[in-house]
Amino acid sequence: KLPTQVKLVDVGPRDGLQNEKQPVSAEVKIGLVHRLQDAGLKEIEVTSFVSPKWVPQMADNAEVMHGISRKPGVLYSVLTPNMKGFEAAIAAPRQEWPDEIVVFGAASEAFSQKNINCSIAESIERFAPVVAAALEKGIRVRGAMSCTVGCPYEGEIAPAKVGYLAQLMKGIGVQRVDVADTIGVGTPRKVQAAMEATLAHFGVDAISGHFHDTYGQALANTLAALELGVWNFQSSSAGLGGCPYAKGATGNVATEDVVYMLHGMGIETGIDLDRLIDAGVYISEALGREPNSRASKAIRTK
Ligand code: HMG
Ligand code: MG
Repeated sequence: KLPTQVKLVDVGPRDGLQNEKQPVSAEVKIGLVHRLQDAGLKEIEVTSFVSPKWVPQMADNAEVMHGISRKPGVLYSVLTPNMKGFEAAIAAPRQEWPDEIVVFGAASEAFSQKNINCSIAESIERFAPVVAAALEKGIRVRGAMSCTVGCPYEGEIAPAKVGYLAQLMKGIGVQRVDVADTIGVGTPRKVQAAMEATLAHFGVDAISGHFHDTYGQALANTLAALELGVWNFQSSSAGLGGCPYAKGATGNVATEDVVYMLHGMGIETGIDLDRLIDAGVYISEALGREPNSRASKAIRTK
């Protein structure tokens, strides 16, 4: 039996815009967050507190967190890979703190090195104090797990490696995890195997699917995860995105496409598809291109 409702995290402002070649102003990022919350998104991944030398596009993190007008009932999350990032995320007054921080590790050693410059074991050592400090301050903690089906450097990833990372994340107090197909190579049964390995350590309510759509598999993978009872997913408005350390990977699955599929299946999201499409058009116009969403295009040209 499939879930009757789904919660979507729009990661467009972070995962989407981190990879843009052209500069995007803080004002436009804030405008996107506002449009997403007005469309009914209940969770938004706003920015990341990472090294501006590594990801210059997120250097305006504090400005964006300061500039957003928060809507009650919406959860705002940010990426914090280490204590330095966490401290920067809470340097502002309390009302500008994130509701949730995200530590991000990988099921692949090579990707861990390329993305965060340390091994999986070292990453867990770095995350542990971040997780403890966040929980102590009443901030929720999510763990992103990259390369759970495939890695740009190591190829296919065995489910056991995903289970191992999930276990490490659980061990340091991470409350929920994202099973991410960073480069979008996964197919439904492989994604289910990665999910099942994670289910050995986290309850189904504490697992979300994070699918990039490089090979056009993300909706099929979403349905495969739904079959396991997973009801939290991450997606990007207008299909923005990619990861600077995963060459060739395209954006996340478009939120518009996921919402169209879910609503068509009678699954509630609380999202107004027309307003969501407008949000995607807004950011795409700012970037000077068309939204990378089939549903958006189809509905706008009807
Ligand atoms: P490092 O170089 O190993 O860190 O980077 P370090 O501790 O040795 O510090 C080196 C310099 O960076 C120092 O500055 C630090 O102050 C500074 P310097 O003394 O040279 O002037 N620094 C920082 N500055 C700002 N904020 C910080 C910070 N930390 C150190 N937090 C680090 C390690 C993790 C920081 C670096 O590798 C990094 O920033 N990586 C970026 C990773 C990233 O953002 N990747 C994209 C997001 S993950 C993703 O997209 C995948 C996901 O979507 C799921 C999926 O699809 O798979 C989540
Ligand atoms: Mg991603």
